[in-house]
Amino acid sequence: RDKKAFIAGVADDQGFGWAIAKALAEAGCEISLGVWVPALNIFKTSFEKGKFDSSRKLSDGSLMQFAHIYPMDAVFDTMADVPEEVATNKRYAGNKAWTVSEVAESVKKDWGNVDILVHSLANGPEVVKPLLETSRKGYLAALSASSYSLISMVQRFGPLMNPGGSVISLTYNASNRIIPGYGGGMSSAKAALESDTRVLAYEAGRKYKVRVNTISAGPLGSRAAKAIGFIDDMIRYSYENAPVQKELAASEVGNVACFLLSPLASAVTGHVMFVDNGLNVMGLAT
Ligand code: NAI
Repeated sequence: RDKKAFIAGVADDQGFGWAIAKALAEAGCEISLGVWVPALNIFKTSFEKGKFDSSRKLSDGSLMQFAHIYPMDAVFDTMADVPEEVATNKRYAGNKAWTVSEVAESVKKDWGNVDILVHSLANGPEVVKPLLETSRKGYLAALSASSYSLISMVQRFGPLMNPGGSVISLTYNASNRIIPGYGGGMSSAKAALESDTRVLAYEAGRKYKVRVNTISAGPLGSRAAKAIGFIDDMIRYSYENAPVQKELAASEVGNVACFLLSPLASAVTGHVMFVDNGLNVMGLAT
């Protein structure tokens, strides 16, 4: 039986979510996506127009397929949480059932149980502000979108995961080390995500017999990273200082995700795995 993977946080072919989808597709998984509601239209249009065809190509020449593409907003758990201005926003009003609980229900109804759950999303409205200047609202928004969203997904998808299943998210070493410029509470959100990975590994491990890990990735020029503003400097810094001097490819993260999500990693859970050309082990920039 092909394994089924639900991936939240794909809205183009540039980020880690897409690369993970591709690695899983190469390994024979069926894939469904949860796409952020405001990004769904453009994603679907680009997809239908063939804009992603070259990056959809698998090694056997076929194109990666998605079983289902759902609108999703990981900041809301049920419709009761959605404020009026979001519910009536024209980008949301045309879509249905995009809260985390509703997406999980749709997946169960349309597709049945899943084996793999991928959380590849983050958002911090005040990311460009230093922590010292971050508002309470901005900080909580960063934690809501980037950390609680994982808890919510494991809560709602856990019951429809097959025993032996596996969950993965993406984190960043700003949780442990000071990365000036990674602000707005995003460093805090990643620290929470890593701690929650351990606690969820225990709780969901016992309850659903699934594993929960996170990948601490090096810098990649994705859409989200470009919004932070200094990604080119980070890529250059990593290139100059990491033990392995090359630019990180999204596919390298996709491959490690595929390993962690597979039975090859059946004894690995609660782990933060660095996929960063080794930058995190350096103590002194050279
Ligand atoms: P990306 O832009 O490809 O992915 C972020 C996705 O999150 C987008 O598709 C966006 O639509 C989605 N999203 C934002 N808010 C959402 C919400 N409320 N509900 C549902 N989806 C939402 O960028 P990237 O860089 O691939 O990000 C994926 C993960 O990798 C994030 O957790 C990010 O923090 C992490 N990461 C990125 C690094 C980088 O240098 N690009 C380094 C280390 C970690």
